[in-house]
Amino acid sequence: MGAKWIKLAVLYFIIGIALGLFMSATIQLHWAAAHAHVNLVGWASTAIIGLVYTVYPKAGTSMLGKWTFWLYNIGLPILLASMFMVQIPGAIGFAHTFTFSGGGALALAIILFAVNVFMNVHDTDRQQV
Ligand code: HEM
Ligand code: HEM
Repeated sequence: MGAKWIKLAVLYFIIGIALGLFMSATIQLHWAAAHAHVNLVGWASTAIIGLVYTVYPKAGTSMLGKWTFWLYNIGLPILLASMFMVQIPGAIGFAHTFTFSGGGALALAIILFAVNVFMNVHDTDRQQV
């Protein structure tokens, strides 16, 4: 399960870096918050979850691990889309539908991840890497 998370994380890394270069090149700094979250939630947080699930495969393959995967990876692109949309004049009302649906799914995923860590991450289950 960990490898799928890490592969998705790398896609966000490419998008985040490309956006950073675009912002630098064009001095369009109003995309900074969206760029920050593509990099920090899309790349960094997703990769960290992937590494946790690689080191503790029992947590990654548990029912909570599967729910985390789908809620997180459906919720995050929707939330990130809303972070771009709030910068577009007139789109804020529409953007908030995305913020609350995507952000709600992501928040639930993170709560399930935390529950999963407490229930299924034990030193005795650690994968030797
Ligand atoms: C080629 C790589 C990158 C470029 C060219 C780039 C460029 C930028 C630019 C132009 C800004 C706006 C700065 C401003 O508003 O004054 C910014 C903000 C930011 N970047 Fe990047 N970035 C890159 C990679 C990354 C990575 C890898 C991360 C995190 C893992 C990251 C995290 C952030 C954060 C958190 C902010 C917001 C900072 C703030 O608002 O104070 N960036 N970046
Ligand atoms: C449900 C998840 C999250 C939501 C809804 C959210 C929302 C926000 C909002 C509304 C801001 C202010 C943006 C602005 O000033 O224009 C912000 C800033 C920031 N958030 Fe998040 N955030 C989330 C998760 C995270 C996570 C997990 C990280 C780090 C791993 C993070 C890092 C940051 C940083 C570095 C800033 C400052 C960026 C800047 O000023 O450009 N956020 N966040």
